Amino acid sequence: MENIQQPKRVFSGVQPSGVLTIGNYLGAIKNWKKFEADEFDSIYCVVDMHAITVRQVPAELRRRTYEILALYIACGLDPQKNTMFVQSHVPAHAELSWILNCYTMFGELSRMTQFKDKSQKNASNVNAGLFDYPVLMASDILLYQTAIVPVGSDQKQHIELARDIAMRFNQVYGDVFTIPEGYMEKNGTKIMSLQEPTKKMSKSDENENASVGILDERDAIMRKFKRAVTDSDTVVRFADGKDGINNLMTIYSCFTGKSMSEIESEFEGKGYGDFKLAVGETVADGLQPVRERFNQLMADKAYLESIMKEGAEKANYFANKTLSKVYKKVGFVPKIR
Ligand code: TRP
Repeated sequence: MENIQQPKRVFSGVQPSGVLTIGNYLGAIKNWKKFEADEFDSIYCVVDMHAITVRQVPAELRRRTYEILALYIACGLDPQKNTMFVQSHVPAHAELSWILNCYTMFGELSRMTQFKDKSQKNASNVNAGLFDYPVLMASDILLYQTAIVPVGSDQKQHIELARDIAMRFNQVYGDVFTIPEGYMEKNGTKIMSLQEPTKKMSKSDENENASVGILDERDAIMRKFKRAVTDSDTVVRFADGKDGINNLMTIYSCFTGKSMSEIESEFEGKGYGDFKLAVGETVADGLQPVRERFNQLMADKAYLESIMKEGAEKANYFANKTLSKVYKKVGFVPKIR
């Protein structure tokens, strides 16, 4: 069957498990706008079921679920052009997960670096859900016949596994799943910590000066950039070993669209102090409209709920089509109606 004209499915998800940083913004959400073009059909999920693989405070999880949806929209994604929904509103994710569990090897899951990291960080709660996290993620992706999965580079291994599971299943049962492909931004995928620029910027960093939240106030943003770690050189220049400056240049480049050499000439003869000030101001200015829109949206729960409802209806319809196919293939008796 020819399906060249059919738009390509894009799917991604964000966990409602902490404040999002400019790393999440620049490395992910901001870049999803391009998938609003006609040749794509995109779905964005708030993955609350993934979030409970580490302990969450229920009221916070609920609030953050609204927040991620509001952020999707505040970052510029049009709810009319993209489907947005909450994972737990579509039971097929859990249902397909069970099936795919039976096509995923213990050894494969044991090799996942995120599992190893998270087991270390949550040593008192290495639960089966944490181990199984990548299978739920594979289900998210495969349910929608996804072709493209825009994610940060830390998710590469999970995407690889989703592909392996899909190919394994298809090999046994014929073409059931589209084989997905990860899509990683070349620039801006990896924004590093402002305090330890060899480490990825993380929302869970203990040092609050290490990361900048999408919703941080101007003062906080300025302070964090002012304190950002640089090096003992004095020239704003992108080069090996200048991790702090490289990171600041990357952030500046993402917000302004300027190239590294343009930035180098802009700050020729100027010190790190001036440069850090400029980066701080640019980031604060760039995030201001996002923060304003976010606050408006959070004040209108009814609107957010209407998006959730509509999104879940569409997602359920599509997901159930794939799930029925899978149930039939593995030999389940169709539901007696
Ligand atoms: N694991 C992803 C992350 O932490 C979130 C996620 C869950 C996801 N399901 C997904 C991303 C499906 C892309 C597609 O970033």
